[in-house]
Amino acid sequence: MSGIIKSSGLHIGVLGGGQLGQMLGLAGIGLGHRFSFLDPAERPPAAQVGRHIRAEYDDPEALERLVRECDLITLEFENVPEATARWIDQHAEIAPPPQALAIAQDRLTEKLFFQQQGLAVAPFVALDTAEQAQSAFAEINGPGILKTRRLGYDGKGQVRFEDSDGVSAGFEQLGRVPCILEGLVDFEREVSMVCARRADGQMAFYPLTENEHQNGILYQSRVLTDDPLQQPAQSACRAVADALDYVGVLTIEFFVRNGELLVNEMAPRVHNSGHWSLGGAVCSQFENHLRAILGWPLGSTKPHSAALMRNLVGAMPQPSAVLQLPGVLLQDYGKSARPGRKLGHITLLAADQTTLDAQSEKLEQALADTPFG
Ligand SMILES: Nc1ncnc2c1ncn2[C@@H]1O[C@H](COP(=O)(O)OP(=O)(O)O)[C@@H](O)[C@H]1O
Ligand SMILES: [Mg+2]
Repeated sequence: MSGIIKSSGLHIGVLGGGQLGQMLGLAGIGLGHRFSFLDPAERPPAAQVGRHIRAEYDDPEALERLVRECDLITLEFENVPEATARWIDQHAEIAPPPQALAIAQDRLTEKLFFQQQGLAVAPFVALDTAEQAQSAFAEINGPGILKTRRLGYDGKGQVRFEDSDGVSAGFEQLGRVPCILEGLVDFEREVSMVCARRADGQMAFYPLTENEHQNGILYQSRVLTDDPLQQPAQSACRAVADALDYVGVLTIEFFVRNGELLVNEMAPRVHNSGHWSLGGAVCSQFENHLRAILGWPLGSTKPHSAALMRNLVGAMPQPSAVLQLPGVLLQDYGKSARPGRKLGHITLLAADQTTLDAQSEKLEQALADTPFG
C-alpha cells in the first residue's frame, strides 16, 4: 500500500461478495467508483452492485484478471487464503495488509499478537492432540470454550465444556484439528469498536456498541454514548492498527469484565456491529473503509441520534410491517432464507435512549406479529 491519494472513478476489486461487499459497493458507487467481486458462490449479494468474478479464492486466472482490471484491491471476507493476499500484494495494491489477514485467521497467533501489544485476553492454551487437550484443561482448570484455530465464525467451530469429558468430546466434534482452549470469561457485557486507519496513521473511531448474541450469532448492537471504556477501546484499536500498519476499517470485539476490557478477537474488515452507521452516523463504516484505502479524508463517525442495529436472521419480515415504525431503516441483502443465515438488518434511530427503548419494544412486537417470508 503506497498511501498515494487516489482519484475518483476507480475500479475496486473486492475479495468476497457477501452482504458486506454489497454495502461497500453501494457506498462506493456513490463516491464514483465501480467494483468487481471475487466470490465462488453462484449469485452472492454483491453481484447486484458490481461485476462478479465467480471463482475460488486461489484461482490463478481469476486473480490475474482481478489485478489486471482493478486499480486497488480490498476484502470483505477474512478467510481468503493468506497466499492469495500475498500474491496480490506483489502485483497490485491491497488493503488491509496481508499480515493483518494472516494474524486474524488464526486464533492462536491473534491472541499472541494482542498480548504483544500489551492487551489483556481470556486465559487460553493451544493444543493439537487429544492428550494436549487434557493437559490444557488441567491448566485452565474450569469451564470454558474449545475453539478451532481457523475458520470459526458466528459461533461455529467452537464447543463449550464443563469438565474433562466435555473437552474430549468437543475435540472429537471439532474434527481433531488444532484448537485453543479458552477459560470462560464471566463478562458483564460484550462490546466492539469499529475504526478506520489511513496509511499515514490518521484514524477515526466509531462509538463502542454493546453486542448481544443468540446461538452464537450477533442479534443486536446498541450504540453507546459517553461510555467510560470508549477511550481505552480506542487506545487498544490504535495499538493494534499501528502495529499492523493497518489501512482500512478494522474491528475489535471485547469482553467487559470487572469494568475492564479483555480483547476477544479482531476482524480485518467492516463488521456487523458497525451496520448501524449506515444511516445512523454521518459517514458509514463502508464509506470510511473506502475513504481509508483511497487515502481520502475520513468521515465523521458521529451518530445522528440514539441508535441500535437488529439483525434479521433466518427470515425477513414484511417490509411494510416494520417500516411503518418511525426511525426504522431496513436493509435486505437479497439472500435466500435459511435458518441461522443473516438475511438483512434493521437500524433503529430515535431522539434519545428512552424513546429508542420504547421503539425497540414496538419493533420486536412487529417482528413477532408479521408473517415472515
Ligand atoms: N472465553 C469466552 N468466555 C465467554 N464467552 C465467550 C468466550 N469466547 C467466546 N465467547 C462467546 O461466544 C461468542 C463467539 O465467540 P468468538 O470468539 O467471538 O467467535 P466468532 O468468530 O464465532 O464470533 C462471543 O461473542 C461470546 O459471546
Ligand atoms: Mg466474534
